[in-house]
Amino acid sequence: MPDTTSEILVLYYSPGGTTAELARIIARGVEEVDGVQARIRTVPPVSPVCEQVADTVPESGPLYATTDDLEACDGLILGCPTHFGNMPAAMKYFIDSTSALWMGGKLAGKPAAVFSASTSMHGGQESTLLTMMLPLLHHGMLIVGLPYTETALFETRSGGSPYGVTRLTDDLEATPISDEERELSLAMGRRVAGVARKLRAGS
Ligand SMILES: Cc1cc2nc3c(=O)[nH]c(=O)nc-3n(C[C@H](O)[C@H](O)[C@H](O)COP(=O)(O)O)c2cc1C
Repeated sequence: MPDTTSEILVLYYSPGGTTAELARIIARGVEEVDGVQARIRTVPPVSPVCEQVADTVPESGPLYATTDDLEACDGLILGCPTHFGNMPAAMKYFIDSTSALWMGGKLAGKPAAVFSASTSMHGGQESTLLTMMLPLLHHGMLIVGLPYTETALFETRSGGSPYGVTRLTDDLEATPISDEERELSLAMGRRVAGVARKLRAGS
Protein backbone atom coordinates (compact mmCIF):
# COMPACT_ATOMS: atom_id res chain seq x y z
CA MET A 1 0.00 0.00 0.00
CA PRO A 2 1.47 3.41 -0.90
CA ASP A 3 1.80 5.88 1.98
CA THR A 4 -0.98 8.41 1.47
CA THR A 5 -0.12 10.58 4.48
CA SER A 6 0.81 14.16 3.63
CA GLU A 7 3.39 16.00 5.67
CA ILE A 8 3.59 19.70 6.41
CA LEU A 9 6.93 21.06 7.60
CA VAL A 10 6.49 23.70 10.32
CA LEU A 11 9.90 25.36 10.31
CA TYR A 12 10.67 28.17 12.72
CA TYR A 13 13.35 30.15 14.51
CA SER A 14 12.51 31.45 17.97
CA PRO A 15 15.26 32.50 20.37
CA GLY A 16 12.68 33.76 22.88
CA GLY A 17 9.95 31.13 22.49
CA THR A 18 7.10 33.30 21.18
CA THR A 19 7.26 32.11 17.59
CA ALA A 20 7.70 28.55 18.88
CA GLU A 21 4.37 28.84 20.71
CA LEU A 22 2.65 29.75 17.44
CA ALA A 23 4.43 26.88 15.66
CA ARG A 24 3.02 24.33 18.10
CA ILE A 25 -0.55 25.60 17.66
CA ILE A 26 -0.20 25.76 13.88
CA ALA A 27 1.02 22.14 13.94
CA ARG A 28 -2.13 21.17 15.87
CA GLY A 29 -4.20 22.85 13.14
CA VAL A 30 -2.30 20.89 10.48
CA GLU A 31 -3.12 17.61 12.23
CA GLU A 32 -6.82 18.46 12.46
CA VAL A 33 -6.95 17.59 8.75
CA ASP A 34 -7.34 13.88 8.04
CA GLY A 35 -4.30 12.24 6.54
CA VAL A 36 -1.89 15.08 7.33
CA GLN A 37 1.00 15.12 9.80
CA ALA A 38 3.11 18.05 10.97
CA ARG A 39 6.90 17.82 11.20
CA ILE A 40 8.27 20.58 13.45
CA ARG A 41 11.84 21.70 12.88
CA THR A 42 13.99 24.69 13.82
CA VAL A 43 17.28 26.21 12.70
CA PRO A 44 20.45 26.89 14.75
CA PRO A 45 21.46 30.44 15.65
CA VAL A 46 24.26 32.12 13.73
CA SER A 47 27.05 34.13 15.32
CA PRO A 48 29.51 36.69 13.99
CA VAL A 49 32.16 34.90 16.05
CA CYS A 50 32.35 31.24 14.99
CA GLU A 51 34.74 29.52 17.37
CA GLN A 52 33.12 26.15 16.85
CA VAL A 53 30.44 24.52 14.75
CA ALA A 54 27.08 24.04 16.48
CA ASP A 55 25.96 20.52 17.36
CA THR A 56 23.80 18.97 14.68
CA VAL A 57 21.17 18.10 17.30
CA PRO A 58 19.93 20.83 19.69
CA GLU A 59 20.06 20.27 23.45
CA SER A 60 16.27 20.51 23.66
CA GLY A 61 13.27 21.12 21.46
CA PRO A 62 12.72 20.12 17.82
CA LEU A 63 15.54 18.90 15.60
CA TYR A 64 17.34 21.24 13.25
CA ALA A 65 15.91 21.19 9.74
CA THR A 66 17.82 19.78 6.82
CA THR A 67 17.19 20.38 3.14
CA ASP A 68 15.90 16.79 3.06
CA ASP A 69 13.02 17.91 5.33
CA LEU A 70 12.14 20.55 2.76
CA GLU A 71 12.36 18.18 -0.17
CA ALA A 72 10.20 15.58 1.56
CA CYS A 73 7.39 17.88 2.71
CA ASP A 74 4.08 18.38 0.93
CA GLY A 75 3.83 21.95 2.26
CA LEU A 76 5.78 24.41 4.37
CA ILE A 77 4.78 26.82 7.15
CA LEU A 78 7.69 29.11 7.95
CA GLY A 79 7.91 31.24 11.11
CA CYS A 80 10.32 33.86 12.45
CA PRO A 81 10.27 36.70 14.95
CA THR A 82 10.37 40.18 13.47
CA HIS A 83 13.94 41.47 13.59
CA PHE A 84 14.13 45.02 12.26
CA GLY A 85 11.10 44.40 10.07
CA ASN A 86 12.62 41.32 8.48
CA MET A 87 13.45 37.67 9.13
CA PRO A 88 16.44 37.00 11.42
CA ALA A 89 19.79 36.02 9.93
CA ALA A 90 19.52 32.45 11.23
CA MET A 91 16.54 31.65 9.01
CA LYS A 92 17.98 33.53 6.04
CA TYR A 93 21.20 31.54 6.48
CA PHE A 94 19.25 28.28 6.29
CA ILE A 95 17.24 29.44 3.27
CA ASP A 96 20.49 30.45 1.56
CA SER A 97 21.55 26.79 1.78
CA THR A 98 18.66 25.67 -0.46
CA SER A 99 20.11 26.50 -3.90
CA ALA A 100 20.30 22.84 -4.92
CA LEU A 101 16.58 22.44 -4.20
CA TRP A 102 15.87 25.59 -6.21
CA MET A 103 17.91 24.35 -9.20
CA GLY A 104 16.02 21.07 -9.14
CA GLY A 105 12.62 22.75 -8.73
CA LYS A 106 12.03 20.54 -5.70
CA LEU A 107 9.69 22.96 -3.90
CA ALA A 108 7.84 24.23 -6.97
CA GLY A 109 4.09 23.78 -6.69
CA LYS A 110 4.02 23.07 -2.95
CA PRO A 111 1.84 25.28 -0.72
CA ALA A 112 3.55 27.56 1.81
CA ALA A 113 2.53 30.04 4.50
CA VAL A 114 4.39 32.33 6.91
CA PHE A 115 4.03 33.49 10.53
CA SER A 116 5.80 35.92 12.83
CA ALA A 117 5.96 37.51 16.30
CA SER A 118 6.93 40.99 17.41
CA THR A 119 6.78 43.28 20.42
CA SER A 120 5.10 46.24 18.78
CA MET A 121 1.87 46.28 16.83
CA HIS A 122 3.25 48.38 13.99
CA GLY A 123 6.86 47.31 14.32
CA GLY A 124 7.20 45.43 11.05
CA GLN A 125 5.22 42.18 11.44
CA GLU A 126 3.69 42.51 8.01
CA SER A 127 6.96 43.46 6.27
CA THR A 128 8.54 40.40 7.90
CA LEU A 129 5.79 38.18 6.54
CA LEU A 130 6.09 39.68 3.07
CA THR A 131 9.87 39.38 2.94
CA MET A 132 9.67 35.78 4.14
CA MET A 133 7.45 35.07 1.14
CA LEU A 134 10.05 36.24 -1.39
CA PRO A 135 12.45 33.27 -1.30
CA LEU A 136 9.45 30.93 -1.23
CA LEU A 137 8.16 32.55 -4.43
CA HIS A 138 11.61 32.12 -6.00
CA HIS A 139 11.27 28.43 -5.17
CA GLY A 140 7.92 28.36 -6.99
CA MET A 141 5.90 27.68 -3.87
CA LEU A 142 2.19 28.55 -3.80
CA ILE A 143 1.69 31.17 -1.09
CA VAL A 144 -1.36 30.59 1.10
CA GLY A 145 -2.64 33.50 3.20
CA LEU A 146 -5.56 33.82 5.60
CA PRO A 147 -8.95 34.83 4.17
CA TYR A 148 -11.34 37.24 5.92
CA THR A 149 -13.82 34.39 6.12
CA GLU A 150 -11.75 33.73 9.25
CA THR A 151 -13.73 36.23 11.32
CA ALA A 152 -10.94 36.50 13.89
CA LEU A 153 -9.15 38.68 11.33
CA PHE A 154 -11.85 41.32 11.75
CA GLU A 155 -12.01 40.98 15.53
CA THR A 156 -8.35 40.89 16.50
CA ARG A 157 -6.82 43.68 18.54
CA SER A 158 -3.61 41.66 18.86
CA GLY A 159 -1.88 39.63 16.15
CA GLY A 160 -3.19 38.27 12.87
CA SER A 161 -3.10 39.43 9.27
CA PRO A 162 -4.22 38.22 5.85
CA TYR A 163 -0.53 37.67 5.02
CA GLY A 164 -0.13 35.15 7.82
CA VAL A 165 -0.45 34.58 11.55
CA THR A 166 1.29 36.95 13.93
CA ARG A 167 1.67 37.13 17.70
CA LEU A 168 2.10 40.33 19.64
CA THR A 169 3.86 40.20 23.00
CA ASP A 170 6.87 41.50 24.86
CA ASP A 171 6.48 39.10 27.76
CA LEU A 172 5.31 35.52 27.26
CA GLU A 173 4.27 35.15 30.91
CA ALA A 174 2.38 38.43 31.14
CA THR A 175 0.66 38.35 27.77
CA PRO A 176 -1.13 35.07 27.12
CA ILE A 177 -1.88 34.31 23.51
CA SER A 178 -5.15 35.95 22.45
CA ASP A 179 -8.18 33.95 21.28
CA GLU A 180 -7.78 35.42 17.80
CA GLU A 181 -4.07 34.59 17.55
CA ARG A 182 -4.83 31.02 18.60
CA GLU A 183 -7.78 30.65 16.22
CA LEU A 184 -5.84 32.07 13.28
CA SER A 185 -2.88 29.77 14.04
CA LEU A 186 -5.15 26.72 13.94
CA ALA A 187 -6.81 28.04 10.78
CA MET A 188 -3.47 28.51 9.06
CA GLY A 189 -2.42 24.96 9.87
CA ARG A 190 -5.72 23.57 8.59
CA ARG A 191 -5.59 25.71 5.47
CA VAL A 192 -2.11 24.68 4.32
CA ALA A 193 -2.85 21.05 5.18
CA GLY A 194 -6.13 21.18 3.24
CA VAL A 195 -4.49 22.73 0.18
CA ALA A 196 -1.69 20.14 0.30
CA ARG A 197 -4.28 17.34 0.39
CA LYS A 198 -6.17 18.76 -2.58
CA LEU A 199 -2.99 19.25 -4.61
CA ARG A 200 -1.93 15.69 -3.88
CA ALA A 201 -5.33 14.31 -4.84
CA GLY A 202 -5.25 16.28 -8.11
CA SER A 203 -1.74 15.28 -9.16
C1 LIG B 1 17.55 41.91 16.96
C2 LIG B 1 16.09 42.11 17.26
C3 LIG B 1 15.34 42.94 16.44
C4 LIG B 1 13.99 43.15 16.69
N1 LIG B 1 13.26 43.94 15.85
C5 LIG B 1 11.96 44.15 16.10
C6 LIG B 1 11.19 44.97 15.22
O1 LIG B 1 11.66 45.46 14.20
N2 LIG B 1 9.89 45.19 15.53
C7 LIG B 1 9.30 44.65 16.66
O2 LIG B 1 8.12 44.89 16.90
N3 LIG B 1 9.99 43.82 17.49
C8 LIG B 1 11.30 43.57 17.21
N4 LIG B 1 12.02 42.72 18.03
C9 LIG B 1 11.32 41.99 19.10
C10 LIG B 1 10.94 40.57 18.66
O3 LIG B 1 10.31 40.56 17.41
C11 LIG B 1 9.98 39.97 19.69
O4 LIG B 1 10.60 39.97 20.95
C12 LIG B 1 9.53 38.58 19.32
O5 LIG B 1 8.39 38.26 20.06
C13 LIG B 1 10.60 37.53 19.59
O6 LIG B 1 10.15 36.28 19.14
P1 LIG B 1 10.76 34.93 19.72
O7 LIG B 1 10.32 34.87 21.17
O8 LIG B 1 10.16 33.87 18.89
O9 LIG B 1 12.25 35.02 19.57
C14 LIG B 1 13.37 42.52 17.80
C15 LIG B 1 14.14 41.68 18.63
C16 LIG B 1 15.47 41.48 18.36
C17 LIG B 1 16.27 40.56 19.26
